[in-house]
Amino acid sequence: MPASPSAASADALAEFVRRLPKAELHLHIEGTLEPELIFRLARRNHVALPYDSVESLRAAYAFTNLQSFLDLYYAGAGVLLTEQDFHDLTAAYVQRARADGVVHAEIMFDPQTHTARGVAIETVFAGIAGALREARDRHGFTSCLLMSFLRHLSEQDAFETLEAALPLRKQYADLWIGIGLDSAERGNPPEKFARVFARCRELGFRLVAHAGEEGPAAYVGDALDLLHVERIDHGVHSEEDPALMRRLASQRIPLTVCPLSNLKLRVVDDLSRHNLARMLRAGVNVTLNSDDPAYFGGYVLDNYVASARALSLSPVEIGQLAANSLAASFLPDADKARLARDLASVLAQCPAP
Ligand code: HPA
Ligand code: ZN
Repeated sequence: MPASPSAASADALAEFVRRLPKAELHLHIEGTLEPELIFRLARRNHVALPYDSVESLRAAYAFTNLQSFLDLYYAGAGVLLTEQDFHDLTAAYVQRARADGVVHAEIMFDPQTHTARGVAIETVFAGIAGALREARDRHGFTSCLLMSFLRHLSEQDAFETLEAALPLRKQYADLWIGIGLDSAERGNPPEKFARVFARCRELGFRLVAHAGEEGPAAYVGDALDLLHVERIDHGVHSEEDPALMRRLASQRIPLTVCPLSNLKLRVVDDLSRHNLARMLRAGVNVTLNSDDPAYFGGYVLDNYVASARALSLSPVEIGQLAANSLAASFLPDADKARLARDLASVLAQCPAP
């Protein structure tokens, strides 16, 4: 029995969201590294940690901005050394996402974080892909990979990463379909990566980039016009530019919004003041995602539930967010149509919370 009427309605809301087939489109696999797994891998790999317990590590997750998070996030990834480590990390994410009703995930990973520590790029690909193929074969959970460049590093470094990865393209053609751009945004504008993104486009990769998280609306426009990305990761600063907002809405350019990330990194000071509901109501193709759930205190379901409560999203709006996630995915049209039908039939049957 729920303890109170509000607990009962919270449970009903979570159950409603869980049952909706959803895609997660903004997820960094390194950001799913839970403190418990950091400690387990550190022991397995004989890596010394500067924390004496899971609790003291978790207590350090009090971020003041994007950079304060990135410092811990890159340090945490230091325990990932072997193919098995990347496999275990990915398998744990898939299990968690499936429990939230995610049916398809488009997963970013940062090879430069690992190659800089002497981990071979082949090891990274093999571990992540192995777990994703198992998830597909055992559970019908589909996914794809978006190899992401770190924008605090040079464009030359991104080119070298691309060159190192391209010999693997055929072997991972079932998964590796796209390219992303992440890490410290301010001072590292889209134009810094225009040439490498042009090369990736020529090679036929799908393109996404983080923009308008901490950076200005102009970075969102530049990601579209200079990098030719199809989706914007975050994009919450787009609202500063009404013409950009009209463009996003009329062209149905997806934003992969991550509300709990924005709260933890102080992009917003309170979820009730997040602009995702306003943007959704203005016709922008908003999707909800978890970004780095192990660091930000919630997976996809938590992001839906916390946003729905803080912003009084209606059941129809929650259903729209799920529908947007399927439509904005890089799945083939036939798969999108099948999942949209599944979603419509769940919505038709489910009691609204
Ligand atoms: N922004 C930029 N870089 C990142 C993020 C983010 O939210 N998460 C992981 N790398
Ligand atoms: Zn991100």
